[in-house]
Amino acid sequence: MNKEETYEALYAEIASVVADERDAVANMANVSALVHERFGFWWTGFYRVVGEQLVLGPFQGPVACTRIAKGRGVCGTSWARGETVVVDDVHLFPGHIACSSASRSEIVVPVIEDGRVTGVLDIDSQYLKTFDQTDAAWLEKIVKLISIH
Ligand code: SME
Repeated sequence: MNKEETYEALYAEIASVVADERDAVANMANVSALVHERFGFWWTGFYRVVGEQLVLGPFQGPVACTRIAKGRGVCGTSWARGETVVVDDVHLFPGHIACSSASRSEIVVPVIEDGRVTGVLDIDSQYLKTFDQTDAAWLEKIVKLISIH
């Protein structure tokens, strides 16, 4: 399976797992687990917008920082811009927040509900240049399957 086919199958699996569940935490937890396991990423999880900060939500992987200000790091930048941010090499991203020194590349996808960013899906890889527009497009579709607030 190439990446496109892997995402196609993953999308269908996630759609069926979240279809009958409305609880935000339960769905964030299962989306994290399914994405993480399918690709073997380093860290996969959600941050939710709570007031002026992003607060750590359900995730898979090592312990992570719990609060991120708007505009800070890759996650805060994605929130501020309201768009997906792909980082080929986190060491070259100004203000990158290193929750783990093993992380080398990253993608952050905003969750947008009723025109407002309610959180982000953050994925870290221990390899450089892991993410591209295929990941961005599919992950944007995947987060539309759930409500996180
Ligand atoms: N690297 C992120 C912080 C979150 S951790 O990677 C899980 C950032 O710069 O926003």
